Amino acid sequence: MAKHFISILDWSPDQHRAALNRARVFKQGREDTRLPGTALALLFEKPSLRTRVSFDMAMYQLGGHCIYLSPAEVGLGQRESVRDTAQVLSRYVSAIAARTFAHRTLDELAQFGSVPVINALSDQEHPCQALADFMTLEQRRGDVKGLTLAYVGDGNNCAVSLLYLAAMLGTNFRIASPKGYQLTPDQVARAQELAARSNATVLLTEDPAEAVNHADAVYTDVWTSMGQEAEKEARTRIFAPYQVNEALLRKTKPDAVLLHPLPAHHGEEVAEGVLYLPQSAVFDQAENRLHAQKAVLATLLE
Ligand code: CP
Ligand code: NVA
Repeated sequence: MAKHFISILDWSPDQHRAALNRARVFKQGREDTRLPGTALALLFEKPSLRTRVSFDMAMYQLGGHCIYLSPAEVGLGQRESVRDTAQVLSRYVSAIAARTFAHRTLDELAQFGSVPVINALSDQEHPCQALADFMTLEQRRGDVKGLTLAYVGDGNNCAVSLLYLAAMLGTNFRIASPKGYQLTPDQVARAQELAARSNATVLLTEDPAEAVNHADAVYTDVWTSMGQEAEKEARTRIFAPYQVNEALLRKTKPDAVLLHPLPAHHGEEVAEGVLYLPQSAVFDQAENRLHAQKAVLATLLE
């Protein structure tokens, strides 16, 4: 079993499948794994509601302990180098869940620390989110193999993790993003290799209507991610045609599921009220972060 969970690519399709099954059993209250004596450091360079609280509650429910370290406390890379921080934390805690600006900070924590590192969101991926997303989709629609998931918006961290996990699990992935904000050719090529093995397809387009046409699920995320605030004005203009609203949702299958990692900007990437429609699964998604992360922690720490 891989020691870290920094990218969806760190785990095989079978390992993801096992984690999803385990997350479901955790949610049903039938999984009795306990991790007494373990501790998780939450090393965060950016704000969080869901990730912070769900990891903290996950450790509490598993009988372990969680320590939150805010950007101001650690000053990662400024007050202290990433290398030294990794080595010091490894002497105290059993794992580090880090939310970073640069993805390479996670790789450095893994390289220089001696405990498992979990990506709690970086500029490149959000793998814990993708696990919870697929858990949610599975609960709403059954087997995700053969379903079509349409992502509308920025080809960002959430999109990348979702792309890779879709390709591994056999879910067809379509993404509509404006030029300049698309997934990279490398990311797409990697996903296409995986998709070839799972019999899934990957489609890139600039047209939201093409992406969502008869889709089983529609996913969107903020247009301006944390760390991109200086680009907000330009992004708001460029992404305006990519809003997920009722007109766009009418093009999907009638029972399509609406997903969003939250926090949402109502009136921007999602029209006002859309996240409160019956087809929206966003609060289940938020809850499932807890169950999916318990599965990740149990997998890495047992
Ligand atoms: N979806 C998500 O990661 O939320 P937070 O930024 O609040 O942790
Ligand atoms: N793409 C968003 C996700 C937040 C959970 C960001 O990085 O800010």
